Amino acid sequence: MPKPADTAPTAVPVDLLESESRQALVDSVLQNRNLIVASNRGPVTFSRQNDGSYTSRQGSGGLVTAVSAVLQGHQAIWIAAAMGEGDRQRAEDAEQAGETLISPQGDDSAFRLRFVVATPEAYHQYYNVISNPLLWFLQHYLWDTPRAPDITHKVWAAWREGYVEVNRQFADEILVACEQFDEEPIIMLQDYQLYLVGRLIREKRPNAIIQHFIHIPWPDPDYWRLLPSEMRKGICEGLLGCDIVGFQIPAHARSFMYTCEAYVPDCTIDYTNKCVEWRGRTIQVRSYPISIDADAVRKTAYSQEARAYERYLPTHWNEFTILRVDRAEPSKNIIRGFHAFDRFLESHPEFQNRVNFIAVTQPSRMDVKEYRNYLDDMSATVGRINAKYANVETGWQPVQIIMGESYPRVLAAMKWYDVLLVNSIIDGMNLVAKEGALINERSGVIILSEGAGAAVQLGELALMVSPADVEGTAEAIYQALTMPIQERQRRAQRLRRSVEQDDVSVWFRNQLVDIANCAMKESEPAAEGSTQVA
Ligand code: F6P
Repeated sequence: MPKPADTAPTAVPVDLLESESRQALVDSVLQNRNLIVASNRGPVTFSRQNDGSYTSRQGSGGLVTAVSAVLQGHQAIWIAAAMGEGDRQRAEDAEQAGETLISPQGDDSAFRLRFVVATPEAYHQYYNVISNPLLWFLQHYLWDTPRAPDITHKVWAAWREGYVEVNRQFADEILVACEQFDEEPIIMLQDYQLYLVGRLIREKRPNAIIQHFIHIPWPDPDYWRLLPSEMRKGICEGLLGCDIVGFQIPAHARSFMYTCEAYVPDCTIDYTNKCVEWRGRTIQVRSYPISIDADAVRKTAYSQEARAYERYLPTHWNEFTILRVDRAEPSKNIIRGFHAFDRFLESHPEFQNRVNFIAVTQPSRMDVKEYRNYLDDMSATVGRINAKYANVETGWQPVQIIMGESYPRVLAAMKWYDVLLVNSIIDGMNLVAKEGALINERSGVIILSEGAGAAVQLGELALMVSPADVEGTAEAIYQALTMPIQERQRRAQRLRRSVEQDDVSVWFRNQLVDIANCAMKESEPAAEGSTQVA
């Protein structure tokens, strides 16, 4: 399926490449090259109906939402794992019907989809043993290291028969998709589940244009030593198979270069130009802070569905409302947030009966025991706090958990908070902080963890807390609830503007500018007097 063979773009002097020219460069590269995106979770999940037809639902989570938003109009191919039975059946039916690519919304589809179908056992090993928890916990500094992780023979088996195997299957599917095109397509790999794919593709297609964006933090090299050399080196070398490795913030990009320096003996790091030289190739290491699709978020927040929630949500509000919104998982530091609220009520009893803490929580990765245990511990903590403060006369319960996944409900709730608590231990970015900043209508204050990537952009206007500091977080709650309204308004307005200016399209375009430069390098030898975009 080649695109019309227009004249290939050439390297352009950098001074011509500001604003619209950058967009023009991106457009011209995309005109000649197709886009292949690969992520573990797909943009849609399928359910089979009794009559044999399928219904599809948008996949959940920040990655899918962000990538779906920016792919509109690019006719990309999206390669994703079949996660549930419906996806598997849909993939099987497609195979039997000779339908190489699935168009979820028929001709109107924003992308065409192909599933990677691993055996349930291999997928379990890859997703529930290696990706989450092993890599996720490592990359969020969550392991209680005197006790865990234990890299047992079972974990080794999960690495070889699960993670390596499913990564190989992803690479194979991408290679099949590449064969449809005359020009090398642009391959955009997403996140920590697919670390080995870049190198596997490079081995078969030396001229491939591959970018890998990592949505989660990248810890210091010392912490990577928890993984045996074969695994950590394999991960680094997998990523070095790409042309560009992208992170949310410069600190994570730097940490990746340190890790390569520590564990990949035959590489050289150029910290000034932010690149790694490895086996005759140059790999750029960049940061692209992800954001939200401001228009789409607003549209959902003011949709009929969200407004319907606004009718019953007020039963949860009080004179003051503290909100948090997370998947139920340890890196979000939800339990410490409850402890901080407990401490706040203890040290400021005048707020008792007047403030509600609402936690909108979505159970996540329930096949992993660490996640199940965390959810249980959350409920137990809330039970204890409510028992401690509950007022039997008024019926006041200070903490309420709203369970389940409804994006319109989340946004409806966000309009109302006085305080949004985002105290994650560490986070690649944290889009909840950005959604809150955009949508809140009460000049609410954001309490933000120093460990959230969002702190780089929003930190100055939020109240910053160190994630383990229960006392400091309790004080921040007090400071937020007693902040003069003018100061609340000043911060809230600037927060909103900051998010509006830097929405997800900027994240995507900046990546494409760098990819465009790579593509240009591929298609022509560097001409004298011309340069790449900085
Ligand atoms: O970046 C981490 C991430 O992939 C997010 O995009 C997403 O919100 C979350 O993890 C979802 O994880 P899973 O697909 O395992 O439910």
